[in-house]
Amino acid sequence: MIAPSILSANFLELKKDIELINNSNADYIHLDVMDGVFVPNITFGVPIIKQIKTIAQKPLDTHLMIIQPERYIEEFADAGSKVITVHYEACIHLHRTIQQIKKTGALAGVSINPHTPVSVLENILCELDLVLIMSVNPGFGGQTFIPFSFDKIRQLKEIKEKNKYSFLIEVDGGVTLENAAELYKAGVDILVAGNTVFSNPDPLKTINEIREKMF
Ligand code: DX5
Ligand code: ZN
Repeated sequence: MIAPSILSANFLELKKDIELINNSNADYIHLDVMDGVFVPNITFGVPIIKQIKTIAQKPLDTHLMIIQPERYIEEFADAGSKVITVHYEACIHLHRTIQQIKKTGALAGVSINPHTPVSVLENILCELDLVLIMSVNPGFGGQTFIPFSFDKIRQLKEIKEKNKYSFLIEVDGGVTLENAAELYKAGVDILVAGNTVFSNPDPLKTINEIREKMF
């Protein structure tokens, strides 16, 4: 699956870019919420997502790069998020926060930063709908993919198969037409792509080209 990130969209013409995703072969719209504390950048929050929801025809994949996300889970769910992903590093009571997400009816995801090992999720994996492997340090679009992310994806895929878990594996950061095929082979179910899609003069074609790499 493909989840274009609107972080690299043209915010003056956001409607146009959402409609572009609507008319594409993408599976989700990836929404990067940043608070300027957990990550060194600030993006958008609930009010914008509510407006996006009124025109989005693809499910909203909300990636919360914020501290204490438990304060806002219900609001992001009410705004129309299909998936809500919180960061392992931002949650003191991660199990409780996962239950809180599930209670809203949204799918529960947990993300780990590049320096965080997959093993910290061992006991919580059975509860998760999605695991998001950050393949750049979160905060900005257009960064370079960190190669050791491949090992983490393979490791996670192995644990998933061994235990017959059902969570989806998503990768976010530095996804390109060059690494998409290998990421898919390593076990990724959802590729997030911001810069690769929106910096291209033909985003629709680029989404199709990424998809073609996933077979
Ligand atoms: C980074 C965000 C990503 C970002 C990816 O902190 O979580 O979703 O949009 O951007 P690209 O695909 O440009 O690396
Ligand atoms: Zn993201």
